[in-house]
This record gives sequence, C-alpha cells and structure tokens, in this order.
Amino acid sequence: MDGAGSAGSGLRGTASRLVLAIQNSARARRLGRSLLGRLVSVRRLSDGERAQVVSRLAGRRAAGTQTVPGHIYFVAYVLGRPVGVIEVFEHPTDARALPGWWTGGLFVRPRYRGLGAGERLLAAAVRTARQSGAPRLLLWTAPGNTRMLRLSTKLGFVVLDDPELRAQCREVTGVEQVVLCRTFSAQEPAAAPGAPGPS
Ligand SMILES: CC(C)(COP(=O)(O)OP(=O)(O)OC[C@H]1O[C@@H](n2cnc3c(N)ncnc32)[C@H](O)[C@@H]1OP(=O)(O)O)[C@@H](O)C(=O)NCCC(=O)NCCS
Repeated sequence: MDGAGSAGSGLRGTASRLVLAIQNSARARRLGRSLLGRLVSVRRLSDGERAQVVSRLAGRRAAGTQTVPGHIYFVAYVLGRPVGVIEVFEHPTDARALPGWWTGGLFVRPRYRGLGAGERLLAAAVRTARQSGAPRLLLWTAPGNTRMLRLSTKLGFVVLDDPELRAQCREVTGVEQVVLCRTFSAQEPAAAPGAPGPS
C-alpha cells in the first residue's frame, strides 16, 4: 500500500474508533440523540417493499437476508436512507416451538448506532404486539450482548427464567440464549415507557 493509502486507512481506523467510543458512552448517546435524533424516523414496511428494503439492509449484515411472509417489519430511516430493521410476529399457540409473540432481527447499521434508532424500532415492535392483544412479547439475545440487554430492559423487558423456552431457543439457534419478556397489563398505555412512536 502507498503512503496516501495507508494514511487514509489510518484515518478511517481512527474515525471508527472515535465513533465507537462515542456510541459506548451513555452521555454521548444522549447528546447525539438530542442533536440528531429528529433525523431518525421509523415506518412499517408494506408487503411489496419488504424484500427490497430488508435485503438492502441485509447486504450490510452477516445474517437475516430473508423476510418471512406474515411477519411485520419496521425500518428506521435517517434522511431517507434505511439504517435499521426489526421484525415482530406471532407463532400460533399450538406451535411445536416458541409459541407466542416474538420480536427479532433487530439491527442498526454501525455508523448510525447511538442515535435512538434501535430503541424506536424495539418500541414499535412492543406497540404492535400490545395493540394486537398479545399478553406478552418475547425476544432472545446472546448472554454477552450488553447493548441489547440494556436496550430491552430500558423498554421494560425482564429476563425470563423459563428453562424449557431457553432450551427451545438453544435448539433453534445452536447457542445459549437469554430470553427476555415484556408483559402487558390491561392498565398500561399502548406506548412503551419513555419511547416515542413510529414517525
Ligand atoms: C443493539 C442495537 C440494535 C442498538 O441500536 P442503537 O440504535 O445503537 O440503540 P439506541 O441508540 O436506540 O440506544 C438505546 C439504548 O440501547 C442501549 N445501548 C445502545 N448502545 C449501547 C452501548 N454501546 N453500550 C451499552 N448500551 C447501549 C442503551 O440502553 C441505550 O439507551 P441510553 O442511551 O439511554 O443508555 C445495535 O447496537 C445493533 O444493531 N447491534 C448489533 C445487532 C444486535 O446485537 N441486535 C440484537 C440482536 S438480539
């Protein structure tokens, strides 16, 4: 690599480390949200646009390139560009594994993290399940996924101590998972605590 090339990649490396440091600071995330959060909007995808938008996002991630008929997808946009996605769906109560309402596939493109997109996507999934009459919404995540664990507990999810469900998740994913649950009570408002709605 020539001098200019290695200087460019050095700069890019420094910039990535700086972005990561900002995203890892709760104070910087708050500041970022207050300055740039209004650029984030969240919208439910129609069936027609689903495959195209999700695969456009999926090109930038390791997994989850397929959309599933019947699942509901929300996408987060920054200045019209899709930057994040989540799905929410119901498995029939007589399903062999994982019955009930689940949310999954939450992903925000790395450079857009820390701006509130993940929280707004998860809030949209919570609202959808609640408005559909679900008694609770479930998700799984890796035990070491601190960001997801913090985000989901921020929106009212608690770790579910259900060995059978955990074993089913392990069977589906091949690795140990933490299952988290957001329970809906009849009295609570339709929006998740502190979370703005899709816009
Ligand atoms: C998890 C993920 C979706 C969060 O998206 P995001 O847009 O960066 O999150 P937000 O800006 O909305 O942050 C909301 C909350 O998430 C948690 N969070 C976000 N980034 C965090 C970080 N770097 N460290 C710790 N907690 C973090 C915090 O609770 C934060 O609230 P706070 O800022 O008030 O502390 C994103 O990091 C991601 O796509 N990760 C890779 C894919 C993944 O792990 N998906 C979950 C699979 S189950």
